[in-house]
Amino acid sequence: MITFEQVSFGYIEEGSTLKDLSFTIEKGSITALIGANGAGKTTLAKLIRGLIRPTSGRILFNGKDISRMKTSTLAAHMGYLFQNPDRQICKNTVGEELDFTLEKTVPEEAERERRKAEVLEALQLDPEGEPFLLSRGERQKIALASALVHRPELLILDEPTTGLDYKECTQIMEYVKILNQQGVTVVMVCHDMEIVLDYSDHVIVMHDGRITADGLTRTILRDAKVLAASALLPPQIIGLSALLQADGYTGFEEVCTVDEMTACVEAYRREA
Ligand SMILES: Nc1ncnc2c1ncn2[C@@H]1O[C@H](COP(=O)(O)OP(=O)(O)OP(=O)(O)O)[C@@H](O)[C@H]1O
Ligand SMILES: [Mg+2]
Repeated sequence: MITFEQVSFGYIEEGSTLKDLSFTIEKGSITALIGANGAGKTTLAKLIRGLIRPTSGRILFNGKDISRMKTSTLAAHMGYLFQNPDRQICKNTVGEELDFTLEKTVPEEAERERRKAEVLEALQLDPEGEPFLLSRGERQKIALASALVHRPELLILDEPTTGLDYKECTQIMEYVKILNQQGVTVVMVCHDMEIVLDYSDHVIVMHDGRITADGLTRTILRDAKVLAASALLPPQIIGLSALLQADGYTGFEEVCTVDEMTACVEAYRREA
């Protein structure tokens, strides 16, 4: 769905922020962009959405060079959640905020109303709610709702769960998962490796403007060297399975979930 061909980008003329990036994001996947602060994740997300343009190289969306696509076409096909929801919200009520996206992207009024009602219900938002009187978590949900209410083909989320409590985080991610199961491709920047493990199928690791690893989530999150080079810690269950392996226990090589860990420990107990 998205292909980067030797893409570089610099905010200033001298020096590149992103250097020679080439990768593909498959349709139907949930891809996590991970890396330390300043690695270039937000810059990469903005390039995908066409908010900034490469200094060199090409970005293809479904085979088309996005530099040749109209801003309105990109907006209809893609949804974007900013790292800071307050930079996105611009209307006085939740309902108006959703209308703002829908009016630009969905021509039919009945369809606009249907989509709005569905998203309000799914994220339990009050259309009369005033965003700036609500909590950080609620504002995050509003910004997310406005990014996805038009049901884009590609949803780009810059840190969708940062600053949220467990319930808010689960509510948001479960809804993103449902949308993905319905065919929406998702790219999300995320610092929480537990969420990356639970919700993504692919991971791209960034370090100092370059991609240092790109592959299946279960493979990348088990790669201690790659994670350590970006100052990232593995999810707890993978860290635990690595410790057990280091202590000479076998059979934990593939363990990534609590269920898999339980099955392995049970197997040891049966043998004992
Ligand atoms: N508008 C800008 N002008 C100049 N430099 C910028 C701008 N935005 C980001 N940068 C620089 O580009 C680099 C990459 O920033 P970016 O925001 O993409 O990183 P990030 O991986 O998203 O970091 P974080 O995890 O802190 O959000 C950093 O060195 C940052 O200081
Ligand atoms: Mg960022």
